[in-house]
Amino acid sequence: MSRAIYPGSFDPVTLGHVDIIRRSSEIFDEVIVGVLHNTSKTPLFSLEERVNMLNEVVSDIPNVSAVCFDGLLVDFARQNHIKVIVRGLRAVTDFEYELQLAQSNRKIAPDIDTVFLTTSIDYAYLSSSIVKEYARFGADVSELVPDNVLHLLNNKLDIDKNKREEKRDGKKRY
Ligand code: PNS
Repeated sequence: MSRAIYPGSFDPVTLGHVDIIRRSSEIFDEVIVGVLHNTSKTPLFSLEERVNMLNEVVSDIPNVSAVCFDGLLVDFARQNHIKVIVRGLRAVTDFEYELQLAQSNRKIAPDIDTVFLTTSIDYAYLSSSIVKEYARFGADVSELVPDNVLHLLNNKLDIDKNKREEKRDGKKRY
């Protein structure tokens, strides 16, 4: 049975990610979307929120599930009998980083390979950072993220905006 992992931060998952997930699910018997628990970054969405939103997004694809992982990707892959890492390649700008990642993973885990899927042209420009930036400034991102993520994003940014306003008003009083 072929089992692959599609790892990433997914903060939040975009339609570009979903495209890669769907296509991977047609290539491999099982695809695990691995959400990185990265303590050095402060994500907009908590780890639990990211895993839940992904599981909702992939609920109609029977051979895909999302889980979190920490530590080295290749260690997680080995522990779960995963032989293939899937990554999306958007443009030449991704290549250098992705090549370094793939080669260093292969150096320490020669039994695990990385395969690249080229992102569909519709999503070639898309990243989670761009989505967050647009959404923060009130731009419409409904064509960039799944519906459930759009809803969560709007809620989250409203909450953050309220918190910032409360903080600002609180400061003004003193
Ligand atoms: O979505 P991202 O942030 O580009 O994903 C990066 C990811 C999760 C694939 C990469 O940071 C990773 O594999 N991290 C786990 C730690 C690890 O294995 N590091 C060694 C290679 S840098």
